[in-house]
Amino acid sequence: MYLIETEDNVGFLTASYIKNRIETFVSTKSKPYFVLALPTGGTSVDLYRNLVKFHQEGLSFDKVVTFNLDEYVGLPENHPESYHSFMAKNFFDHIKIQKEQINILNGNAADLYKECANYEEKIKNYGGIDLLIGGIGQNGHIAFNEPESAFDSSTRVVNLTSNTIAANARFFNNDISLVPTRALTVGLGTIMNAKEVIIMATGPKKAQALYHAFEDKQSTAWPVTVLQKHPRTFIIADKAAAAEISKTTKQNYGLCSFIN
Ligand code: PGA
Repeated sequence: MYLIETEDNVGFLTASYIKNRIETFVSTKSKPYFVLALPTGGTSVDLYRNLVKFHQEGLSFDKVVTFNLDEYVGLPENHPESYHSFMAKNFFDHIKIQKEQINILNGNAADLYKECANYEEKIKNYGGIDLLIGGIGQNGHIAFNEPESAFDSSTRVVNLTSNTIAANARFFNNDISLVPTRALTVGLGTIMNAKEVIIMATGPKKAQALYHAFEDKQSTAWPVTVLQKHPRTFIIADKAAAAEISKTTKQNYGLCSFIN
């Protein structure tokens, strides 16, 4: 796991890396599709704005399949705060991509367990995730893998913690009672199987989670710590998010840019 602390725009840096990876894939093309896993949440809005801009300048998604990390259970797909709506509004409505190339968990499936098993299977059939982009929760969650999630967990139904429900209430008129309490999420095991992972972290609210990510021992109390053993994870943080990480740790884990 590496730390990239930047004064640049985290969304721009992440979008640039995705662009580079897609273009390299297209020029070598060892399999039909580049498999990109995508997050939702406030931090990712800027990432999508930059990706849409790159698309307008010529970046093609013709050889990309996407898998979103999570979705609420029981929220209608067309609800403005569903992750289906978020992705359409921030990204998919603005790029040329076939519907068949987009995968988002169906939180209204009649059989949620089967939905999760099929999702995991579909990822495997595409050859696994090439690049997974995630945000991080204040409690260290990655996707909706809340504290105490098993490090080898796969795609599944989860209950959201009160911390996450409170953090997400801002999207539901600040009314906690409107926030769904369950979700479908890819697992920490699914994330660990991705060939590369980028976690974006901005603002002081993420500082404690990043402290645990880099300074603490691996523990399910802080799900992000599972990534300490992932060979190619980059955590891209702004100054505020990296504020609690010690100088020594920054020297040990810090990179000024991505490694090739
Ligand atoms: P945020 O969410 O980008 O809205 O802070 C990130 C997350 O909870 O994973």
